[in-house]
Amino acid sequence: MANRIVLNTISYHGKGAIKEIVNEAKARGFQHIFLCTDPDLLKFGVTKKVTDLLDEAGLVYTVYSQIKANPTIQNVTDGVAAFKACGADSIVTVGGGSAMDTAKAIGIIIANPEFEDVRSLEGVAPTKNHAVPTIAVPTTAGTAAEVTINYVITDVEKERKFVCVDTHDIPEVAVVDPDMMSTMPKSLTAATGMDALTHAIEGYTTKAAWELTDMFHLEAIRLISKNLRGAVENTPEGREGMAMAQYIAGMGFSNVGLGIAHSIAHTLGAHYDTPHGVACAMMLPIVMEYNAEYTGERYREIARAMGVEGVDQMSQAEYRKAAIDAVKQLSKDVGIPENLAGKIKEEDLDQLAKDAFADACCPGNPRDTNVEELKELYRKIM
Ligand SMILES: NC(=O)c1ccc[n+]([C@@H]2O[C@H](COP(=O)([O-])OP(=O)(O)OC[C@H]3O[C@@H](n4cnc5c(N)ncnc54)[C@H](O)[C@@H]3O)[C@@H](O)[C@H]2O)c1
Ligand SMILES: [Fe+2]
Repeated sequence: MANRIVLNTISYHGKGAIKEIVNEAKARGFQHIFLCTDPDLLKFGVTKKVTDLLDEAGLVYTVYSQIKANPTIQNVTDGVAAFKACGADSIVTVGGGSAMDTAKAIGIIIANPEFEDVRSLEGVAPTKNHAVPTIAVPTTAGTAAEVTINYVITDVEKERKFVCVDTHDIPEVAVVDPDMMSTMPKSLTAATGMDALTHAIEGYTTKAAWELTDMFHLEAIRLISKNLRGAVENTPEGREGMAMAQYIAGMGFSNVGLGIAHSIAHTLGAHYDTPHGVACAMMLPIVMEYNAEYTGERYREIARAMGVEGVDQMSQAEYRKAAIDAVKQLSKDVGIPENLAGKIKEEDLDQLAKDAFADACCPGNPRDTNVEELKELYRKIM
């Protein structure tokens, strides 16, 4: 099968990029914008940076913000109803992965009403129409949902998160402005940045990786290891570097998939509401150790991209350890805890491991796994 790359039609990058939202909305003839964001972003004035521009330009919009972190099926169905009620024709989404993923699901259902139950969108759904025209504006530097063909929704009843993969959901326009990220507190910057690193490393080692995605992932690893510490200290260079890095990682992993650090992170988000980036960061070095034998020379390049010196003189065991140590060090430097301190209960393990095994990211892992081995990986963060 041929390799495939799907990206935004247009993307804008750098400080001040949000001004382009108005030009794009006008050029695309948006008459009534559905502005999909979350309650905290409204409260802390992050969304206002965009609504001020829309107000100035006289563009009509309705705000929808009934979205929780790790968004639910209900958040999507309420959003679909709100979209219909206000008569919108387009979407601008301002937020982290939670707001952007909800906007994607809403945009898909409006254009493909036969999927209104939401659950039927899991996996690769046979939608026929592209989602409602969308401009995506990330406020975290992590998920890259603005450039991916994925979105993740939580099924509260079944205590599981499910991944939807659909080329029809990619926003036409992404506006990646580091100023939108500058209000993130340290812990959120660290967690979302480590999510981006997990995308880059899992994307680089996943079974479907190929030359073009390798190029994206290695550059993302390099930029994250250079800029995440600075971003946590809120330096302009750090913020700019991370805004770019997470997007580049998204250009890669969206097209080839991830691995079991993400499968496990999805189950922790669904069962315990663990922030996605924290779950990814905890699992990444553990999963790297588990996968090492199945990754050929790849950890040498990961270590090199993370700034480790002398990798060409190292034995295979040395460079594999160096790559894992560099990831652990970065995680420690930005303040990610090493485990979930008693949150996971022994009696939950069976269900967690079964859910991780069934997760859409599991087949892409370089090492084929099973429920028993997954349980052992959970034990390492208990
Ligand atoms: N679509 C994809 O390809 C993809 C990839 C990875 C993860 N995800 C999903 O994305 C979700 C996680 O998204 P996330 O990590 O971006 O966090 P999030 O969207 O869940 O936001 C977390 C919290 O941070 C706040 N926040 C966001 N930006 C802020 C800012 N600039 N200043 C202050 N507060 C801010 C939000 O209001 C929210 O309370 C998960 O559901 C995860 O499964 C999706
Ligand atoms: Fe992620």
